[in-house]
Amino acid sequence: MKVIEVISYDEMSELAARYFLTKITTYPRLTLGLATGSSPKGIYQYLVHDYDKNRTDYSHITTFNLDEYIGLSKDHQNSYYQYMHDNLFHHVNIPPKQIHIPSGINDNNQAECEVYEEKINAIGGIDLQLLGIGANGHIGFNEPGTPFYSKTHVVNLTASTREANMRFFNNICEVPSQAITMGIQTIFNSKEIILLASGQTKQHAMVQLLSGEVSESFPASILNKHPNITVIADEEALLLA
Ligand code: GLP
Repeated sequence: MKVIEVISYDEMSELAARYFLTKITTYPRLTLGLATGSSPKGIYQYLVHDYDKNRTDYSHITTFNLDEYIGLSKDHQNSYYQYMHDNLFHHVNIPPKQIHIPSGINDNNQAECEVYEEKINAIGGIDLQLLGIGANGHIGFNEPGTPFYSKTHVVNLTASTREANMRFFNNICEVPSQAITMGIQTIFNSKEIILLASGQTKQHAMVQLLSGEVSESFPASILNKHPNITVIADEEALLLA
């Protein structure tokens, strides 16, 4: 695991975005795994700014998002579908048919998960996966205790994750209690991973991740065994590590 320490959230975002742009402009076809939350927002801003300036081409890019809340429609302001379109997809030329986000309003969630996993496999897997990390070590919405061999599945969100994400909702009752997420195995199968961590709320997660101990009680710990992962974290996130 390669760790790059940067000074600030902005530096983290710019460094990661530049790396993504290098890949986007180099490969004739590229499948990106994308994340939501506060951590990747800066990257998306940087990519949109670059697109406005340079018209970098995204027509050869396919994307798969990590997760989506169950019960939120696409146009719900807190759905990850909405987040991705607001922050990136509306602003660059990725063809809509190449954009994949699990649907949180499918009558059959199990079928939704299976089809999502099949689509990722059919395209040959994810080339570059962007990840944030939850304070309890969750990646995507894979909470502590999720088997490392898990594929795309339905999860019950822990109280701490719902509380952490409450800042986007009016109150805790509005935060969905379930989500669909790529599994840990799905994420691990990505050819390359970039994990972002910024700020004080990620300090304990960084200590655990960088300790090197691998345990299902801390989902991100499996990444210590990945052959091509880079953690980009700011000084504050790494303060105790
Ligand atoms: C959410 C998302 C994760 C994200 C995590 C951290 O629960 N499902 O994919 O990595 O929170 O979010 P943030 O970057 O806002 O700290």
